[in-house]
Amino acid sequence: MEELIREAASIVYASRMTIALTGAGVSVESGIPDFRSAGGLWSRFDPAEYATIDAFRSNPEKVWDMLKEMEALVIKARPNKAHRGMGELEKMGFLHAIITQNVDNLHQAGGSKNVIEYHGNSSTLSCLGCGKRYRADEKREGEFPPRCECRQILKPDVVFFGEAIPPEPMNRSFQLASMAQALLVVGTSAVVSPANTIPGLAKRSGARIIEINKERTHLTSSLTDVFLQGEAGEVIETLVLEVKRLAGTGDTPA
Ligand code: APR
Repeated sequence: MEELIREAASIVYASRMTIALTGAGVSVESGIPDFRSAGGLWSRFDPAEYATIDAFRSNPEKVWDMLKEMEALVIKARPNKAHRGMGELEKMGFLHAIITQNVDNLHQAGGSKNVIEYHGNSSTLSCLGCGKRYRADEKREGEFPPRCECRQILKPDVVFFGEAIPPEPMNRSFQLASMAQALLVVGTSAVVSPANTIPGLAKRSGARIIEINKERTHLTSSLTDVFLQGEAGEVIETLVLEVKRLAGTGDTPA
């Protein structure tokens, strides 16, 4: 693994534009389960019944049962070493932007400023009827499920299956992926479109792909240049140390 860390760090150190694509795996060490690992959220809630926009429109109370469980975990969650390490890379100028599929705000809490929320964010709620928007924490102690003043049940501003990715994050991600010289793919099974088109676009534009995951994915043998297998927190902490050593700024690894 040391050799692979050195290879990945030299790619990041030499790259003039490095971006990251992250998924639920980067927040598992903060106590938020991912979706498709054993015991993940979709093993307990069928996404066809809980995560599509049609499911929300036809039975919002039922979908809010799953959302409530997720919200309880997100409120308690704190950024882990992976979030903080990526925030450090950005501060050092070695990570230009993070495109995240997560809606837990943990990259921002971990110090990252340039975060593109590809699937929205759970910290605001919107009314599908009149369009009014509320802060989720304003509605948390009130009636359940939370309602708009027009009495419609509110929906978190996250992208459900069957909804389009908002144009701004979609366009910015496309632009960054086509300019990147290196792409860190962290904690994602890369099975959900269109987020999973980003690694291929970056690769075709000449980027080196560094994948960090506790297990292999379909990218590993097709697109990945350097596969760093392990827990995201541990791997990113080690990667950041090695980049610091190359930049001559860091605490030399023991
Ligand atoms: N460290 C590194 N990788 C991890 C860790 C960890 N601690 N824990 C889990 N993983 C990996 C898993 O092996 C898996 O490959 O993270 C990946 C998580 O994959 P998914 O559960 O499919 O999550 P994600 O890829 O983010 O899903 C994409 O699907 O349901 C939708 O909208 C939802 O944004 C989500 C999208």
